[in-house]
Amino acid sequence: MQEKTILTALKNGFYDSRIYYETLHSFDDGQGVFFDKYLDGHVVVGYEICKDVARRIDEFGRRSLSLPSDLFRGSRQAKLGYEVMQAMSIFLPAGSSYVARRQRLLEVAGHARHDLGLDRIREVASKSINLLPVDEPAEVFLTSLRPFAAQCANLLVLQSAEVPAYVTEDAVTATYFFDGKRPGREHLLAAMEAIDRLADWLATARGLSRSNDGEILADLALLYVAAHESVSYLLYNCLWYLSTREGGFDKSLLPNLASLVAEALRYDSPVQISGRVALDDSRIGDYLVRKGAHVYLHVGAANRDEKVFTNADVFDENRQPMHLGFGWGPTRCVGSEFASACAAEYLTAILARFSRVHYHKENTRFDHGLSARGLKAASFSLGQR
Ligand code: HEM
Repeated sequence: MQEKTILTALKNGFYDSRIYYETLHSFDDGQGVFFDKYLDGHVVVGYEICKDVARRIDEFGRRSLSLPSDLFRGSRQAKLGYEVMQAMSIFLPAGSSYVARRQRLLEVAGHARHDLGLDRIREVASKSINLLPVDEPAEVFLTSLRPFAAQCANLLVLQSAEVPAYVTEDAVTATYFFDGKRPGREHLLAAMEAIDRLADWLATARGLSRSNDGEILADLALLYVAAHESVSYLLYNCLWYLSTREGGFDKSLLPNLASLVAEALRYDSPVQISGRVALDDSRIGDYLVRKGAHVYLHVGAANRDEKVFTNADVFDENRQPMHLGFGWGPTRCVGSEFASACAAEYLTAILARFSRVHYHKENTRFDHGLSARGLKAASFSLGQR
């Protein structure tokens, strides 16, 4: 008998998303939810029930960030980074003060898309694609997908595409914490120290003060970090799908890109989990959830729910799915349009230069975490027909 935990699903299906999602759904006995002993919380894997819990913000709130204080003994920098993280909007209850913070986040993301324009992102995408070799295997994750995502994040927050390598390294180290990867104490400290350096860097670049502008700096750091691994993994999904497409591809795919990107978000959602806490005794399906108990909205598994998506394990570029890959309801991802636009620009640049892509599974290395999908390396050959 397999232990009902996300860890089992990850172990069984680390290299095969179909097995991973099948394992998760096999735990729920048709109820859309199961209790995960390792995480000590309920994991919601059914599509409708996931939406329902996301909507019930008065019953299922967001969790504040609270770690044991002695964890930071010996690293003042980690303690300072922890304080920045605690102030991030994502750890606020979804009440009125959150609404105001969210508005500011949406304004930053909207500004990047509309006022700054997509031209800069298009330029960056085009340069990134032009660097790829023709007809030979290339590691594209570290050389193209992640640098592109980092440049998009930089354009978003600082209106510049120039990103020092150490800043990307810090952003990635911080995402390990959010993505549920590398849970050791040393990794946690490294993530907090990275956030502290990012906050310093953002403060200098934006002329803000660490002591007086703590809230805005926390939000900028969150926006910066959130745009990294998620966008890279989304693009990996798109490239992988293009490699499976019969007859290759050409510019006739351009009008269909939004739908293709949405299906990639459904098919293997880059962000898998959004955490909640029960604010009172409540029910999820047949389960009684006690006040204070943890609830994990597994949007990744919900997006593979066969009750909602016919042939959920098939990537269908024409599906136009109402996916939950950006979450749902009042806390839905504020960067969803920005992320989709960046992905569409990157794919447009691919279609302009290439019409064929071959996937090298044997040279691809995954780096999935408990709450997000990820990569260490991804190998493709791109060419023309
Ligand atoms: C493929 C890319 C992305 C995916 C799959 C994704 C997914 C998600 C999900 C599932 C959530 C949690 C929603 C909830 O709890 O209800 C979230 C939150 C968030 N995302 Fe994204 N995201 C992506 C890209 C981005 C980008 C590019 C940005 C920055 C512009 C961003 C900024 C944020 C922020 C700031 C939050 C927290 C909002 C809050 O405070 O409530 N995301 N995202």
